Amino acid sequence: MSDDIISYSSDQQGILTSDALPIDQEPEIISLRPERLHEYIGQAEVLETLEIAIEATKQRGEALEHVLLHGPPGLGKTTLAHIIANEMNTRLVVTSGPALEKGGDLIGMLTHLETGDVLFIDEIHRTPKAVEELLYPAMEDFSIDFIFDKGIHARSHRFQLKQFTLVGATTRVGLLSAPLRDRFGLFRSLDFYNYEDLERIVRRSAVLLNLEIDKDGAGSLARRSRGTPRIINRLLKRARDYSQVRSDGRINVKTISEALGLEGVDDVGLTPLDRRYLRTIINYYNGGPVGIEAVAATLQEESDTLVDVVEPFLLKIGFVMRTAAGRRASEVAYKHLGLEKVSEKT
Ligand code: ADE
Repeated sequence: MSDDIISYSSDQQGILTSDALPIDQEPEIISLRPERLHEYIGQAEVLETLEIAIEATKQRGEALEHVLLHGPPGLGKTTLAHIIANEMNTRLVVTSGPALEKGGDLIGMLTHLETGDVLFIDEIHRTPKAVEELLYPAMEDFSIDFIFDKGIHARSHRFQLKQFTLVGATTRVGLLSAPLRDRFGLFRSLDFYNYEDLERIVRRSAVLLNLEIDKDGAGSLARRSRGTPRIINRLLKRARDYSQVRSDGRINVKTISEALGLEGVDDVGLTPLDRRYLRTIINYYNGGPVGIEAVAATLQEESDTLVDVVEPFLLKIGFVMRTAAGRRASEVAYKHLGLEKVSEKT
């Protein structure tokens, strides 16, 4: 892991700390993450865009334009922010929209940035409006306006910032306001990974973790990982534990199947929550269409979790459809769950 990562916890704004890293940035997971563009597998077009922009910017001796990365969780948005900072040879400052509660939280960070530093704001769509508005001049003119006093005594002072690069990550680009979205020079969406890329990722991870996994085993994990590198790495670790304790340590189709059976992960990678979501639509709402809030209430889950985490992959594999009237389970979803579609009474 690079020494140049600065993480701010929400109650320690402005203080450089390394002990507040979110779960998915813990050292071991970081060690499975590629740190350079040439190590990154998949997302070829996104990589090429970044490679060209980084190279051109370095040749001109400028800071990289602001980058907005969009896509479901676990596809590599944070990893790419780390890679951008590594390739630009600059520091990375990490925060998130919900952690930026007050304007002062952001100002503290912005004023400490050096030329070329990368400020990574995860879940940028959850940045409070008042904080978001400070970002506009910061992104556009590298300046912020401090307001002193109130009413007729109000005075403002413009503070010049160093030229930095904002990397924003979001699972919901539709929730970003147009003024914020328009201030990013580069905008790319990450898509789910294909099996071939996932196999390569899990083989790379196995080498880093010093594990033996055969070709069929890598393929089996790829098919069960919902197109997501973070998930394949997590499943690899579950298979590692199982193979170590219940077998000879080698990971193969049999140990994977048994380990993932315990996790409730099925042949196509659906989790217990995915299946509960589908069964709710099918059993309670006769297959839909049904609004997401009704599904969330029946499941007693946050609708944001369903929209951000559960639905994107189910939409991708055609198990669910989003229509103007609500969510609808598809024929394949019924078949996968072994359920009969009850035809509508006329
Ligand atoms: N580990 C997690 N995501 C990866 C990726 N896209 N390429 C290589 N290794 C990874």
